[in-house]
Amino acid sequence: MSTIATANETMLRVDAIDTYYGDSHILKGLSLEIRRGETVALLGRNGVGKTTTLKSIVGWVPPKRGTITFDGVDVTGNEMMANARAGISLVPEERRIFTNLSVYENIKLAQVTAQRPGWTLQDVYDHFPRLKEREKNKGDEISGGEKQMLAIARALVQDTKLLLLDEPTEGLAPLIVREVEAIVREIKAKGMTILLVEQNFYSALAVADRCYVIDQGAIQFEGTPTDLKGNTEVLSRYLHV
Ligand SMILES: Nc1ncnc2c1ncn2[C@@H]1O[C@H](COP(=O)(O)OP(=O)(O)OP(=O)(O)O)[C@@H](O)[C@H]1O
Ligand SMILES: [Mg+2]
Repeated sequence: MSTIATANETMLRVDAIDTYYGDSHILKGLSLEIRRGETVALLGRNGVGKTTTLKSIVGWVPPKRGTITFDGVDVTGNEMMANARAGISLVPEERRIFTNLSVYENIKLAQVTAQRPGWTLQDVYDHFPRLKEREKNKGDEISGGEKQMLAIARALVQDTKLLLLDEPTEGLAPLIVREVEAIVREIKAKGMTILLVEQNFYSALAVADRCYVIDQGAIQFEGTPTDLKGNTEVLSRYLHV
């Protein structure tokens, strides 16, 4: 009984948020929820508010209305740092890493600044052998896929409970896209809860348990990847697939 309750437990609840940039009203009553251990994909076209949703969740751009609850605690309006300490990690589109530090130093720095330890360096190297190979290279001497892996690794050495990934496969060659998908699956298998923003429809559906489609600042569809693949109206209307 308690096992089932834990498996179905809501980790993040976003309830009817409205988010603005100045006067621009971007999110309009957006709601979604993520249960512990789930990988949820947020899909939508360019400029519909996917990144803004992630920024609202972490407190980068706090919503004007609505609530965000994380692990049963109302975190609406919290500073980004407070949310990071609570275990919410965002790997942004730009894959922010220190370009003047080596791969190894990038990982170590994330580790020493972590509130609570997460993965060890050995865990990282076991899961990302490429990072081990490149450990002495500086952040600006590695490929886009390796930068993505490093940015994810930096989130994992901190005690991340909810990992927010903003278009992790963007701009990567098909082979590297497969690698990143495999990494997401492995992290998920280790029990991580993930919100994955993607424009790459096939990549998202390959890893997600559930998906949301966003358009005009609100959720227009929610269902399993199979539901979505079978819904030609949603696909053509909101995703142009
Ligand atoms: N800092 C900002 N100031 C003003 N408007 C912004 C800002 N950031 C984004 N916007 C606008 O908000 C809307 C939603 O942007 P957002 O970045 O959330 O879209 P997205 O779905 O992530 O798009 P993409 O797929 O291109 O990354 C867009 O119209 C965008 O131009
Ligand atoms: Mg975006």
